[in-house]
Amino acid sequence: MDRILIRGGHRLSGRLPISGAKNAALTLMPCALLTDAPLTLRNLPRLADVDGFGHLLNQLGASTAIEGTSPQDFGRTMTIRAGSLTSTEAPYDIVRKMRASILVLGPVLARAGEARVSLPGGCAIGNRPIDLHLKALEAIGAELEMAAGYVKATAPGGRLSGGRYRFPVVSVGATENVVMAAVLAKGGSVIENAAREPEIVDLCNCLIAMGARIEGVGTDTLEIEGVDALHGATYAVMPDRIEAGSYACAAAITGGSLELVGARAADMQATIDALREAGVTVAETADGLSVEAGAPLAPVTLSTAPYPGFATDMQAQFMAMLCLGSGTSVLTETIFENRYMHVPELARMGADIQVHGRTALVKGVDRLVGAPVMATDLRASMSLILAGLAAEGETAVARVYHLDRGYERLEEKLSAVGADIERASDG
Ligand code: UD1
Repeated sequence: MDRILIRGGHRLSGRLPISGAKNAALTLMPCALLTDAPLTLRNLPRLADVDGFGHLLNQLGASTAIEGTSPQDFGRTMTIRAGSLTSTEAPYDIVRKMRASILVLGPVLARAGEARVSLPGGCAIGNRPIDLHLKALEAIGAELEMAAGYVKATAPGGRLSGGRYRFPVVSVGATENVVMAAVLAKGGSVIENAAREPEIVDLCNCLIAMGARIEGVGTDTLEIEGVDALHGATYAVMPDRIEAGSYACAAAITGGSLELVGARAADMQATIDALREAGVTVAETADGLSVEAGAPLAPVTLSTAPYPGFATDMQAQFMAMLCLGSGTSVLTETIFENRYMHVPELARMGADIQVHGRTALVKGVDRLVGAPVMATDLRASMSLILAGLAAEGETAVARVYHLDRGYERLEEKLSAVGADIERASDG
């Protein structure tokens, strides 16, 4: 299995390109299931999860054609055409490996009148149920049946009715699923307490480009008027705000300065505010965002929250950065119950972190020391990369497949701005 080897202590500087957003890509790709016409997505990141989602679409009967395969290119263009669906099932083997597979439920149900999707089961960052996806779909007319680890959803008479649903808890994925299903319903739908993440705005804009009627985009109330059919479109995936935030932390933790080319400040204000609070200088440039470390990093108090709050997907990277800050930072995780798996690994590198329930107290230390480490999810893995960039000596991050799910050509991007980082294959 591959490992990433980092010899720390190099100040990063230069321009670093930001890829298309993983989480936007994974909700834009299933939109292709809603029409028999082609959907062309530009700026799709080259990631294991995007490839995996492509395979799932193929299993459902969609064709996927990729352009822009030159190794120098970041991003690709993919044209997906679901002329007709040959299957309406997302099997256990695929959903188990990639939780986002659940996002075919809404579109397949809306297009084919039925869908069968495996329940995802446990996940490394806690118990992540899909009850809200199911309740929202039920509210717009789906009938549900659970059997043998699968949920079967049916639209009576072949088409969803539309309806009203208020989420009791904000859910990104469940909002995406119900929006994708409601656009082809017979009637209108109102979704209240909807997630407002920029990736949901991207989803709505793509659906509108395909002929959907959606009002309230970017707010917590989405009003959707169902249409009889959608057409094809060409749509560019938004820049990855989490990747940009992660590399901003890389600049800060190494005392460096990076221009994040293509980053969009408007999507990541909470991250920018938190960086500034830590003493990092962040400014918009013509091409993206510039980030320059201030020394020393000041302690911050942060709590994760749905957008526009501070993203849970940035918590682990901030924690790594704040390990080398002055004073004690206080981080509270409110979205997922088990998202501190990076803490013991950071501690092995010399970090001083105490976890009390959902809150972590991060006491700044003078130095981190490289070590062999591994993490069990994507953002936790990135926090170990960040710690390794600043640590003395060598850090070997195992389980690289987590990073390959969410960071396009990580070691290439980081070595181009001065990091001493490489991928080592253990054969
Ligand atoms: C998405 C993102 C993930 C991010 C998360 C929160 C993708 C592919 N993944 O995940 O990177 O960390 O948003 O910003 O876009 N919940 C329920 N029942 C449900 C659904 C969710 O109880 O049916 C709970 C979850 O356990 C969690 C909270 O709601 O505590 C928020 O989860 P949600 O927003 O749904 O996250 P995902 O869409 O899975």
